[in-house]
Amino acid sequence: MNLIPAPRRIERNGGSGPFGGDVRTGVDPAVGPEAYRLVVSSGGAEIVGGDDAGVFWGRQTLRQLTGPDAFRRAPIERGPVTVPYVTIEDRPRFAWRGFMLDVARHFLPKDDVLRYVDLLAAHKLNVLHLHLTDDQGWRIEIRRYPRLTEIGAWRKRTRMGWGEPVLWDERPHGGFYTQDDLREIVAYAAERHVTVVPEIDLPGHSQAAIAAYPELGNTDVVDTAALEVMTDWGINRNVLAPTDAVLRFYEGVLEEVLAIFPGQFVHIGGDECSKEQWRGSPTAQARIRELGLRDEDGLQAWMIRHFDRWLAARGRRLIGWDEILEGGLAEGAAVMCWRWYRGGIAAAEAGHSVVMCPQQEVYLDHVQAHGPEEPVPFGWVHTLEDVYRFEPVPPRLAGTPHAANIIGAQANLWTEVVENRSRVDYQAFPRLVAFAEAVWSELPDPDERDFDDFERRMNTAHYARLDALGVGYRPPGGPRPWQQRPGVPGRMHGKPRRTWRMAD
Ligand code: ACM
Repeated sequence: MNLIPAPRRIERNGGSGPFGGDVRTGVDPAVGPEAYRLVVSSGGAEIVGGDDAGVFWGRQTLRQLTGPDAFRRAPIERGPVTVPYVTIEDRPRFAWRGFMLDVARHFLPKDDVLRYVDLLAAHKLNVLHLHLTDDQGWRIEIRRYPRLTEIGAWRKRTRMGWGEPVLWDERPHGGFYTQDDLREIVAYAAERHVTVVPEIDLPGHSQAAIAAYPELGNTDVVDTAALEVMTDWGINRNVLAPTDAVLRFYEGVLEEVLAIFPGQFVHIGGDECSKEQWRGSPTAQARIRELGLRDEDGLQAWMIRHFDRWLAARGRRLIGWDEILEGGLAEGAAVMCWRWYRGGIAAAEAGHSVVMCPQQEVYLDHVQAHGPEEPVPFGWVHTLEDVYRFEPVPPRLAGTPHAANIIGAQANLWTEVVENRSRVDYQAFPRLVAFAEAVWSELPDPDERDFDDFERRMNTAHYARLDALGVGYRPPGGPRPWQQRPGVPGRMHGKPRRTWRMAD
């Protein structure tokens, strides 16, 4: 059977036969969260889910059993298809099976986001993390601060690629989602049992906001009124000022965010905040003294703690990149671990919830093969097989009570060198399929995994499903001519890839 992700248990009931579309469903909480039992027989299909999500995931499995054409938007044949008669019992390994789309660096129109919700759901992935704000763009309408999108959602031009020679796309770039667009995305995702997690990145990665409202920046060390939405990439020294006014401003932003996104987690970023301006800023230094903090890391931790408490008081939980561990982690905060496994291990051992997304394993903006034809040379090489062998729980935590704090994992797609939907498809697929199996199925340790069998299932069925879905994936033999980006420079990482076994 060519199912992906592989279910936990399959029993063949003998033979196969026509399936006319008759599906009976029911919910039995004893089956377990997101779990399902699917029975396909000559009498049709029966799905019992532990909850509605379980029924929905069971339907996705049934869809795969009915053949690749089930993934087209309309049937192309009349009459019943042939299905194998089976009983399947299945449940996910992790509760958080996520994908992050960076819609800040390159805006992805609403329809493309909705399409990604469908693609996630087809692979039993259940979290769509939208990176909504960054130096290069602010993508969410905030009604009380209209300049965030009037000014912050647009940039004059865009650096093409990353490295030498310096190339520019001189077209202005931008776009944003209205609150109604986002409500639609949230509702569409909820119907497919996908939770949308919004990210409002602070105190770094904030130049688009500062360009819109210069008082948000460190006005005592930089002329923030002269700042524009950033057109280049990289870690940026223009960060938010650690003032009460900035806290109040972002509380206002988050109030509107909470009204749109009903999920438990709100992502506040916290990554790559340059401390250069705070070191030179009399205002920031006075704040450090006044609060009795040790240094600028303490100042960042103070800001994160503020929003941790603010969100907790409203019944939500803060999640942030693993830099939020520096200077002391806020009490209820969850950590998204992107720099090796180290921060995630420390956070899990301290009792915090962790989502593992190490860039050394599952950053999908990184190239998927060696070779000059691969667009765009960036990061480490993460092949389909590498992603298939991704293991969210490192050996140091495996078998300990702390392993339960790894609530899941996420594949992240940053878009500095990924400018539109076809580039997103190319970077995400087929690797997101391998990721889906790594976070849903009960697989052996990375070295023991049967990649040949996964590849066989890809070749005999799943590429055909992706074709039916209209996904512009990277073919196994390399990019099609129009998928290449000759001449666009990139930036490959020099250090060797760190593996799961070396994680502790
Ligand atoms: C990140 O990749 N800066 C979280």
